[in-house]
Amino acid sequence: MIGRSNGAPVSITGLGTYTPERVLTNDELSMLVDTTDEWITERTGIKERRIAAPEQAMTDLALPAARLALENARVKPSELDLIIVATVTPDMMFPTTGSLLGDLLPAPDAAAYDLLAGCTGFVYALAQAHAMVSSGLSKKALVVGGDVLSKILDWTDRSTLVLFGDGAGAVVLERVDGGGFLGFELGADGGGGEHLWLPGSGSRAFEDADRLVKMNGREVFKFATRVMVSSAQALLSELGQTIDDVDVYVPHQANTRIIDYAAKKLGIPEDRIVVNVDRYGNTSSGSIPLALADAEADGRLEPGATVLMTGMGAGLTWGSALMEWTANGRIVR
Ligand code: ACO
Repeated sequence: MIGRSNGAPVSITGLGTYTPERVLTNDELSMLVDTTDEWITERTGIKERRIAAPEQAMTDLALPAARLALENARVKPSELDLIIVATVTPDMMFPTTGSLLGDLLPAPDAAAYDLLAGCTGFVYALAQAHAMVSSGLSKKALVVGGDVLSKILDWTDRSTLVLFGDGAGAVVLERVDGGGFLGFELGADGGGGEHLWLPGSGSRAFEDADRLVKMNGREVFKFATRVMVSSAQALLSELGQTIDDVDVYVPHQANTRIIDYAAKKLGIPEDRIVVNVDRYGNTSSGSIPLALADAEADGRLEPGATVLMTGMGAGLTWGSALMEWTANGRIVR
């Protein structure tokens, strides 16, 4: 799916994030499995990640991120009419994390649901919320992206354990005077789904399902390097823009090697790329909003800046969004 935003302009009017306090370093991991800080750093760029407390579930990460996003947007929870939580680690299958979050905020007038699109979930959710706000069905939408992957990792499997972390981000979407989302490209390939999967997590029975993440790292690497480039190029071309128009590139934070490869192929200079995988690891749907928050904190998200986000992950799925950043819902030219 690919297209230009041609309805009423919609933008992010508030951003908030939350990461658990516990920092888990590579050296600590090397005491749990047969790995080293050197191997992890060289192959992934990751130095440390955040790990949720035993009692923390997705809602506990989503709530503080959502409250901060609402505060920054100057929107009351009761004004929300839509909540989408992109996650593969909901508190439980139902009630959804979206519903639970709506109750906690509280946002009694909001439709609420969860969206499953692996690490691309946040980009998919942005596209859905954008369409609903642009059409007028929703006036104030909250999109949360986040995961508590530490709860579904095999803590004896070094090939997956070292890659992931926990975290969440939230954004408020509203109509604005101009700027905001310019277009989206979203895709999926279930045929490659077997390379990153969670057997036993749904209605299909498996004889030896342990409900823990399984990954074929090399296949995912090949997929990731391909779609990070093709998705961004397709969207830019659809919108009549080039990589030179992009001021801030926010790629999914899976691995610095994947980010470096994509950036080089796309031809985007290093100073326009946001990287925080060294501090958080791969937080799945939390990755892009956490990186957006870093870019905002270091002053790169200036009003008028063109921001390219590209995600990829389980499904296999991928997606890009291009937007013109706005301040407090108003474009400043
Ligand atoms: N520590 C030490 N050695 C390890 C570790 C580890 N943590 N993990 C694997 N190895 C070993 C392997 O066993 C293998 O040993 P062998 O040669 O004796 O068999 C060796 O290191 C090389 O393994 P490779 O898999 O070839 O290593 P590679 O360079 O491909 O790096 C990695 C592995 C980092 C997983 C890489 O393939 C990758 O990044 N893939 C993409 C993963 C990803 O991004 N997944 C998530 C994307 S989607 C989402 O976000 C949910």
